[in-house]
This record gives sequence, structure tokens and C-alpha cells, in this order.
Amino acid sequence: MAKATATKSAATKKTAAASTQSEESMLKDLFIEELKDIYWAEKHLTKSMPKMRKGATSEELASAFENHLAQTAEQIARIEEVFEMLETTARAKKCDAMEGLVKEAQSVLEDTPKGSAVRDVALIIHAQKIEHYEIASYGSLVQLAKTMGRNDIADVLQVTLDEEKTTDQLLTQLAESGINISADNEMEK
Ligand SMILES: [Fe+2]
Ligand SMILES: [Fe+2]
Repeated sequence: MAKATATKSAATKKTAAASTQSEESMLKDLFIEELKDIYWAEKHLTKSMPKMRKGATSEELASAFENHLAQTAEQIARIEEVFEMLETTARAKKCDAMEGLVKEAQSVLEDTPKGSAVRDVALIIHAQKIEHYEIASYGSLVQLAKTMGRNDIADVLQVTLDEEKTTDQLLTQLAESGINISADNEMEK
């Protein structure tokens, strides 16, 4: 009787271990898929941010884009580091959401007059939509990494998450510190 119980308990343990393992690898797979998505998104942003910088009216907004472009290159390197930590090849998977967000941001340059404050207001709105997508992505990845017991990976991605949040706050400050008011005073030509 005792032997049978022991056998049963061993079997239960085995099943529990197997299911934890498969759940773990399913979560890991999901994590890698999300990482590929943000990897594509960041790479795409390095191509679009120079256009936004060039199109910006105010010096402050142009230099905010410039600084964030440099940060984005570091963020890409961090994602590659995480792929390595997961012993997986770094691969990008097209992110339809970021493609759309970038398209909308680019259309600002066609839809608003060059040299206007209203153009900066529109660029800030669209840049913040992009930042919020990134914040959602990195926020989830940091949390998932912790769930998987990979605090080392969570720490790497937390650096990027903080940068995205700071950029979002800076854009809000720029809008509130004068760009919105300038646009409000701007006359249609
Ligand atoms: Fe980023
Ligand atoms: Fe960003």
C-alpha cells in the first residue's frame, strides 16, 4: 500500500514537473516572439527618427529626437544581448503596429506646414504614441522575465523601459512648456 502511494506520488510529481517545463517553454517562446517584435520596431525607428528630427520646427524637439535616436541604437544592442542570454539567434519579426504608428508620424510632415509650431505638436503626439507602444512592450517583457526567474534579463530590459518612460515625460514637458501655446497662437496662412 505504502509502495503504491509512493509510486503514485512520484508519478504525480513527474507530471507536475513536465507540465511546468512545457508551460515554461511556452512562456519562453512567447517571450522570444515579443522580443523579435520590439527588435523589428526599434530597428524601424532608427530609420524614421532622422526624418522626424529633420522635420521638427523647434531646436528642443529636434534635439530630443536626436538624443533618442542615439539611445535607440543602445536599446537594439540590449535586445541582442538578451537574445544571447537566451541562447537564441537575434531575429526581427515585422511589427505591424509600429509600421502603422511610424506611417502616421511621417504623414504629419505632409499634413502640417513646415516651420510651424502645430507641426511640432503633431510630431509630439505621434512620438508619444510610439513611446507608449514601447513602454507597453518593455513593461510586459520585464514582468515576464521576472516570472521566468530571469532577473538578469529583466534588469537589462528595465534600463530601456526607464529610457522610454523618460522620453515620454520629456515630450510632455516640451509640449507643455511652450510648443502647445505657440501653436495656439499660430495663425493659419
Ligand atoms: Fe526604443
Ligand atoms: Fe522610444
